[in-house]
Amino acid sequence: MATFLVTGGCGFIGSHLCAALRARGHGVRVLDDLSSGSEANLAPGSKFLLGDVCQPMALREALAGVDGCFHLAAIASVQRGEKDWLGTHRTNLSATVALLEAARASRIPVVYASSAAVYGANGNLPLHEDSTVQPLSAYGADKLGCELHARVAGHVHGIPTMGLRFFNVFGPRQDPASPYSGVISIFCDRLLRKEALDVFGDGQQTRDFIFVEDVVRALIAAMRQVNVAAPVLNICTGNGTSVLQLAYLVAELCGVRAEINHRPARAGEVRHSIGLPLRARERLGLGSTMAIRDGLEATLTWM
Ligand code: NAD
Ligand code: UD1
Repeated sequence: MATFLVTGGCGFIGSHLCAALRARGHGVRVLDDLSSGSEANLAPGSKFLLGDVCQPMALREALAGVDGCFHLAAIASVQRGEKDWLGTHRTNLSATVALLEAARASRIPVVYASSAAVYGANGNLPLHEDSTVQPLSAYGADKLGCELHARVAGHVHGIPTMGLRFFNVFGPRQDPASPYSGVISIFCDRLLRKEALDVFGDGQQTRDFIFVEDVVRALIAAMRQVNVAAPVLNICTGNGTSVLQLAYLVAELCGVRAEINHRPARAGEVRHSIGLPLRARERLGLGSTMAIRDGLEATLTWM
């Protein structure tokens, strides 16, 4: 059995990954500063290191003796990147460079979270790995920067990596309390309280929503496929749902009527985001993904 470092292991996706790694008998070390994650999310049996991924010393200590690293720590909100450009850049890109530098001496393999946000303004759907990248936000630019530095890590320093371009991930433990959280956790929380929803813009923008357990399967499979060519793969379902469709679907599952307030569209917002999942399915040996309705039911049950 192996030992893995999971940065951001107290967050939404990271906590599910840690639980799955522990269930497979692996040792798990978590480095997290608890800025958006919670210690309550920590998978039983994991070793917790409270620290900042921007600190080289904390990274070196956390990486000592591990067989691989899943790098998920980031400020996941596109909106936070708009408000605090330099601060989010430090966590979302500089920390990835610091991590790769710390992984260099032992050539520790790294699987890291990229994002569909790298495609940005590219509306030629479905988006595939060879589609032109056109980030619209600081967040998307930083995730693209992670991919470019992963290439440097492989070509110059011999570090094997794989970047996963997650589309919109949802499921239990996505923090419903934060205004910076994903739209599904916010809509589920509001509708369960019978509160009105805010829809930014006309609500016709689309997203490819993928259930967190499908993402965890991809992460674990990716660790076996890392290489110095720094491949990147889409992690998505191939199905698009508009924000308005989502609002009505969640309302139906909650047994309430959706009351919707339209608000101004967000700056730096991607209009349509639907990915092609075929390459990841083939390279990572993944099966089909969970239907959005089933994933929403599981999320609502958790709430
Ligand atoms: P999250 O906010 O729930 O988890 C991020 C974790 O990183 C938190 O536990 C937080 O405390 C920690 N963290 C943040 N800054 C840190 C720092 N400087 N040092 C140490 N720990 C720090 O977010 P998530 O949705 O689980 O996202 C995980 C990763 O996946 C992120 O890299 C995010 O950009 C990426 N991603 C998420 C989605 C999505 O839809 N949720 C989609 C694409 C990519
Ligand atoms: C999300 C992720 C980001 C990831 C990207 C990949 C979060 C917080 N963000 O960004 O990490 O890289 O997917 O595609 O998980 N909306 C409303 N009302 C609300 C909240 C949101 O209308 O109350 C709309 C937004 O304007 C947007 C859509 O819902 O059009 C999705 O928003 P959000 O969940 O914040 O995700 P993304 O910005 O797509």
